[in-house]
Amino acid sequence: MLKYTICAAFVAVFCLSSFLTERKPVAKTARENYEQYCSSCHGEKVEAFVDRNWKHGKAKSDLVKSITGGYPDLGMPTWSPTLNEQEISEMADLILESLKNVDQYKFTSKPTSNVFTTEGMTVKLDTVASGLKSPWGLAFMPDGGMIITDRAGDVYRVDKANRKTKLTGGPMVLVEGQGGLLDVELHPDFAKNQLVYMSYSAFRQEGSDKLSTTAVMRAKLVGDALTDQKIIFEALPYSKTRHHYGSRLKFDKQNFLYVSVGDRGNEKENPQSLDRGPGKIHRLHDDGRIPADNPFLNEKKERTSVYSYGHRNPQGMALNPATGQIWTNEHGPRGGDEVNIIKKAANYGWPVICYGINYDGKPITNLSAKEGMEQPLTYWLPSIAPSGMAFVDGAKYPGWKNNLMVGSLRFQYLNRCVLEGNKIVKQETILKNIGRLRNVDMGPDGYLYVSVEDPGYVFRLLPVNQ
Ligand code: HEC
Repeated sequence: MLKYTICAAFVAVFCLSSFLTERKPVAKTARENYEQYCSSCHGEKVEAFVDRNWKHGKAKSDLVKSITGGYPDLGMPTWSPTLNEQEISEMADLILESLKNVDQYKFTSKPTSNVFTTEGMTVKLDTVASGLKSPWGLAFMPDGGMIITDRAGDVYRVDKANRKTKLTGGPMVLVEGQGGLLDVELHPDFAKNQLVYMSYSAFRQEGSDKLSTTAVMRAKLVGDALTDQKIIFEALPYSKTRHHYGSRLKFDKQNFLYVSVGDRGNEKENPQSLDRGPGKIHRLHDDGRIPADNPFLNEKKERTSVYSYGHRNPQGMALNPATGQIWTNEHGPRGGDEVNIIKKAANYGWPVICYGINYDGKPITNLSAKEGMEQPLTYWLPSIAPSGMAFVDGAKYPGWKNNLMVGSLRFQYLNRCVLEGNKIVKQETILKNIGRLRNVDMGPDGYLYVSVEDPGYVFRLLPVNQ
């Protein structure tokens, strides 16, 4: 009898408690509801809505309408059976909150002077070159001059007195879409061998199709001519697309040449396939030979140029002078631009993991992390469209010592990242509204150089005594 009573009491308590939890569910926050119901299609971070191409309006009433009724024929479910009015209203507020993120980059004021005051330094823009379209690559010569590659197809030398000369003998490039003449880098022993490396959109005709890919030409500078041209690298296969070429070139301290190549708009096949060139960072000897300690073999058991993979569109690359490591930045889709440190054989995750969403709003992935895939040091949501990258080295900019600089094409400014070791601990937006910032590089003279496009200029940043 006693046993029975205890048992009954247990059952009663059990029933009562489950009755209570059923009747009074713990209210979920909008963020929790988002993770449960929306992230599988709209991306793990609700902040990714900030980069959406809005189709049905972004006023609160539009959002409530979209969420409540959905667009079932277009793949957006109806949420009124699942979420109540208050939950939908809170969800709309959460999304609207994320839209405010973009305002931090919308600088209304155009620069009125060429002097820019920032937290650490005041600098003055000194014009080195003008009359360009998109000065993509900057390379510094031992005599104080520089070589500039313009995406429109021309190679220039600018001497110490800022006189600009067009060089002959550059590669034949396909100036379509995002393609053209891209980066330039000098051999570390340029003073002795005068070797210049240029990356570009190569093309070839196959039947009625013009196909293209990222390639690297090495040539010798003799007077105003590039001679002894040799194509030392091509990212195979060629394809019909005209975007996501990468592309940056960098030598490390052991004279290995790194080449960044974008996924060529084929995220399904390229970035995760080790036998395809696009969507990779490649590592070569200075003459294009493949280093014996590169990590991967192809089907024929030959070593390949692939050094790391799972990249989307890396348009910035720099050598960290403190560690000798190669750092890159790459464009995410809508949101999810990344900064990475390149490690041998590492997988950077695209398109399996990502912090952004697709341009058409269709799902890419709702994963932003996965075992065996690298996490970025930082990511930008909204996307800033990063291009160019440089570490501040030397003594000319004490207020920016060891900072990492990244150009923003989309918001037309320079992103200053303060580092502690390999961590980005703080960021400042500087040189606001100076133009689509295509490249930033550190000259051997200790000055920082930036290039902007449409119209194209190259500026030297001169510190101003405060
Ligand atoms: C099964 C995939 C899927 C899920 C889950 C989903 N959505 Fe959508 N959503 C879509 C698609 C696809 C569209 C674009 C429809 C179109 O083309 O008009 C969309 C559109 C929207 C829009 C309108 C955007 C515009 O461009 O005007 C809003 C707002 C929205 N979704 C919010 C949500 C919220 C909030 C949730 C979670 C409660 C959610 N969605 C869950 C697929 C999904």
